[in-house]
Amino acid sequence: MRNIINLFFKLIYQYSFKIRFFIAKKVIFFIFKIKKNSLFFKNLSILINNFYKDGFVKIDSYYSDREIEYLNNISNQVLNDTKNANNQLDIEKVDGSIKIKHLTKTYKEFKRFTNDSIMQVFSIIFNFKHISPDVILNISHDGNFYENLIPGVCTKNIADTPHIDAKDGFKRYLKGFIILENLSQENGATKIIPKSSENKKIINLLSLKEKSDQLKNEIKKIKNISKDVSLTGKKGDLVLFDSRNIHWAGNLNRGMRKLLWVYF
Ligand SMILES: [Fe+2]
Repeated sequence: MRNIINLFFKLIYQYSFKIRFFIAKKVIFFIFKIKKNSLFFKNLSILINNFYKDGFVKIDSYYSDREIEYLNNISNQVLNDTKNANNQLDIEKVDGSIKIKHLTKTYKEFKRFTNDSIMQVFSIIFNFKHISPDVILNISHDGNFYENLIPGVCTKNIADTPHIDAKDGFKRYLKGFIILENLSQENGATKIIPKSSENKKIINLLSLKEKSDQLKNEIKKIKNISKDVSLTGKKGDLVLFDSRNIHWAGNLNRGMRKLLWVYF
């Protein structure tokens, strides 16, 4: 009985999400029609449309050069603080790569960049409530950067296996990243299979309790037959995506991948 109730709630969640996004799309477009001169609503309408279509959106030059310089400076400070044995930072490290999580607890400055109106509109459509996102610094390199702080060469990026992220094992998970150094296929851009979150088999598997092996196999199968998109970009671009779509970190062949992840 509990399983049936569970399944019922998951189905409601699945459809209410689509309806919510559809309504938001219409409302923002309607406001844009009334306020013909509003560049904000025009852009928002385009962004929501693209996100609805593909499951991700890239916003070019979202942050100015000065803002990126500022974010790079704080990020380097964070990295320096990892040397301090008393730091309270949550660190995940592999050769040539580091992830430092929950940054807004210690570095409040990040909040100014991640609580703006565009991000919050997306967050509210997604989660149906205001969320102050978690910020994570993620750096991987080929051995030529940050020798003392991130030793080694990144031959295997963290999260390089195709996977999906789902809140509570099922719900869609809005994630984004701010590009701090130009990002190409060479230096490990994230890859995504657009709209794979709509795959019926995946949705059914997410509804099951014991799902891990079957789900992994299904993800592999879909990855092998689908076209992926590389989320490349320039310093200052912002990417937002529904991380219940299949995605993974690309291989780093040369250079450095430096991102600020934003998890809603
Ligand atoms: Fe992920």
